[in-house]
Amino acid sequence: MSNCFNLSDMIDIEWSKLPFAYFKTDYNVRCYFRDGQWGEIEVSSSEYINIHMAASALHYGQEAFEGLKAFRGVDNKIRIFRWEENFKRMERSAEGVLMAPVTKDVFHDMLMKVVKLNEKYIPPFGTGASLYIRPLLIGTGPCVGVKPADEYMFLIFVGPVGPYFKEGFNPVAIQIARDVDRAAPLGTGTYKVGGNYAASLGSGERAHHEGYAACMYLDAREKKYIDECGPANFFGIKGNTYVTPKSSSILPSITNKSLMTLAEDMGMVVEQRHVPVEELKEFDEVGACGTAAVISPIKLIQDRETGEVYNYCKDGNVGPISTKLYNRLRAIQYGEEADKFGWVKIIE
Ligand code: PLP
Ligand code: COI
Repeated sequence: MSNCFNLSDMIDIEWSKLPFAYFKTDYNVRCYFRDGQWGEIEVSSSEYINIHMAASALHYGQEAFEGLKAFRGVDNKIRIFRWEENFKRMERSAEGVLMAPVTKDVFHDMLMKVVKLNEKYIPPFGTGASLYIRPLLIGTGPCVGVKPADEYMFLIFVGPVGPYFKEGFNPVAIQIARDVDRAAPLGTGTYKVGGNYAASLGSGERAHHEGYAACMYLDAREKKYIDECGPANFFGIKGNTYVTPKSSSILPSITNKSLMTLAEDMGMVVEQRHVPVEELKEFDEVGACGTAAVISPIKLIQDRETGEVYNYCKDGNVGPISTKLYNRLRAIQYGEEADKFGWVKIIE
């Protein structure tokens, strides 16, 4: 295989119509932790893994994953966004559920390798699509008693994706689910582990059936404060202030962290604090943010239990600050704006 990517290598995909979904590509990369150390990186073209039926990942939820993206820039270069943050978060998640953490070198080398190997699946600049990268760490050692495994598998697969919410950068409707807790205040909510997503599946699917893009979860203890929005953090704009929840049960979003930096850079005040549900009345603009969701502006939030409805984007348009934040984030990711915060790794 050539190391050099030519436009003629492009495959026939309707890039701008891609949903956010699994897409088979040519290769994934794998590495195994055995006898107390990580082994050699392996390249595979199989979509399947062969693991022990008593693997701790299957029984006791010893698993963590990540989500990051690679972009083909305006200059045709490949840019990976803030991969070291994803590495650090995966390290924390691994420690949170007692898995062997992947080393930074293994994470880095596998990431670069899998992106290069699947280069032809990186959507062209201008299509709005990107390459979603999914690192996955699982306990593979057999466990019947409840305990951590002694063997692990780390793999990364990738696939081209479009927007997470079909609306793209158009306003979505969100439903507050008071009858479900996604994560407990001192639980696993800050780790990117599968159990948190299992806990959100029922309320998420119900929200979809009832016409909403996602659920908004409130803090589990008091049901007073906003936690997060399905697979994304929440933010609200009030005048010149960017407000986002501080909570011990939400995933620390790398997108949100980036938006906070951009907001400050734009001269805004940033507040990371408890956000009472009633404050929803006071925001000029609200949105959900994440790697998959980027920024999804919110037009309506309905409290399923109380019936209260909060409306935004009343003229049908996305608010000016959300638009500006979205444009700047995208411009950095696609190499249209200087990477002054050092967020982007260019792969030659
Ligand atoms: N919250 C949850 C529960 C998520 O799954 C995600 C996605 O990763 C986010 C927030 C956003 O995090 P990030 O911006 O790092 O993708
Ligand atoms: C992401 O934004 O990267 C996510 O992981 C969200 C979701 C697909 C789980």
